[in-house]
Amino acid sequence: MFKRLVSVYLIVILIIFVVLGVSMLKMFENYHFDKKSEALIDAGQKLNSTVIKYLNNQVSYERLGMEMESTERFLNAKIWVVDKMGYIYGVSSKSETKLIGRQLTENDIVKVLKGNIIAKRGDYDEYFDSPVMTVGIPIFVNGKVENGIFMHSPIYEIKETLKETYKIIIYSILISMLIAVALLYFISQKISKPIMEINKITKVIASGEFDKRVAIMSKDEIGQLAVSFNHMAEELNKLEEMRKGFIADVSHELRTPLTLITGYVKGLMDVELSEEKRGEYLDIIYKETGRLTELINDLLDLSRMESGKNILNMKKFDINELIRRNIVNYSNKLEEKNINVEANFKHDPMWVMADKESISQVISNLVDNSVKFMNDGDSLIINTDIKENKALISIRDTGIGIPASDLTNIWHRFYKGDKSRSRQVSGTGLGLSIVKEIIKSHNEQIWVESKVGEGAVFVFTLKLCDNA
Ligand SMILES: Nc1ncnc2c1ncn2[C@@H]1O[C@H](COP(=O)(O)OP(=O)(O)OP(=O)(O)O)[C@@H](O)[C@H]1O
Ligand SMILES: [Mg+2]
Repeated sequence: MFKRLVSVYLIVILIIFVVLGVSMLKMFENYHFDKKSEALIDAGQKLNSTVIKYLNNQVSYERLGMEMESTERFLNAKIWVVDKMGYIYGVSSKSETKLIGRQLTENDIVKVLKGNIIAKRGDYDEYFDSPVMTVGIPIFVNGKVENGIFMHSPIYEIKETLKETYKIIIYSILISMLIAVALLYFISQKISKPIMEINKITKVIASGEFDKRVAIMSKDEIGQLAVSFNHMAEELNKLEEMRKGFIADVSHELRTPLTLITGYVKGLMDVELSEEKRGEYLDIIYKETGRLTELINDLLDLSRMESGKNILNMKKFDINELIRRNIVNYSNKLEEKNINVEANFKHDPMWVMADKESISQVISNLVDNSVKFMNDGDSLIINTDIKENKALISIRDTGIGIPASDLTNIWHRFYKGDKSRSRQVSGTGLGLSIVKEIIKSHNEQIWVESKVGEGAVFVFTLKLCDNA
């Protein structure tokens, strides 16, 4: 991450500096050239009057030469004076006397003799070894061009001054790159360290230590990631706990009937066992294997529903009829306990759209619970009604009721209220979780109201269907 950040930033910095540096240098260069040509033109104007005096024979050729020489020294520029035909007749430096008498035919020189001031940079290979900047000034006498002054200053002198600027730019590039690298190192450390920390903890959690958490307190995106990560770890932990609990519950539920079966099978092996006892033992074994099958079936149902693989067979049917049939199925148990059964159907028939088999299981599970937790002579009241365009089915009993603290737990798998009593009352605690899953898969609601000693009422909704 650090390397990638650094290379991107350095490239950006480099591009910025190169673009900036090149344009700044161009600006400086132009500025220097302008300044130099101004100075040269200025000096040329001064020489102008001396040349005119010379032409009027007011000063000597030597005097003109001396003045040119001092200007050359002052400005570091070779100076030529030419006549109107372009022949050089005066030079500022002794070394150039060989040029005297030579005719200049270059374009820009002709321009000067036509009355223009010129200033240009370029090569005069014929006369100078290195590039020069040249300024040419026409000399007028009575409004006509009579002579011209040319001044050549070597360009390397200007380049020399620009070298300083180059240096400054290069130094600033280096310094800012150093600062950038340092800052980037700091920033990327700040970013990558917590990510590495999360990475490390992920591996630890993946290896099964679900209680590990990331300790990052920052409020930025990384901090948020850490919070989400910890939340995920928390959920994983809960899931793991649930899984462990589930296995423990299942093993426990399986062990009790299996122990009983093993015990009675051992008893059956006794050759001296009476025929009567043998029948009794077989009866118990039969009941316990039945319980085991029921438990396995319930578990399979639940897991199918929870994985969303349960396909509902939605059909239109009369819910009142289904309730009647369920009550008939339970009539033996209801009579055994002397239970008063009351059914109030506001609309009869009441058509609903649902999976009939599953809803039948819901009703039988709820009625089964009511019967189980009612005392002799209690009442079971089943109502159906329509509210807010929904079928409302309530199953009420006047049994022992459910403590408020249990009202949310009863929906959990294997949850059985009042542990001490649960041995006498059969059941595995799966009934209500199956009920809940069925209603959930129908996208409907189920809820419970209860008070200890006064009984309980379970109410669920179903999708209504038009009559007929
Ligand atoms: N009508 C009710 N009156 C009093 N308590 C109830 C009633 N219905 C459920 N409960 C409480 O909720 C618990 C969970 O019910 P659930 O139907 O899930 O399990 P179960 O009846 O114990 O076993 P299973 O239904 O698997 O045979 C019960 O053990 C009981 O404590
Ligand atoms: Mg039950």
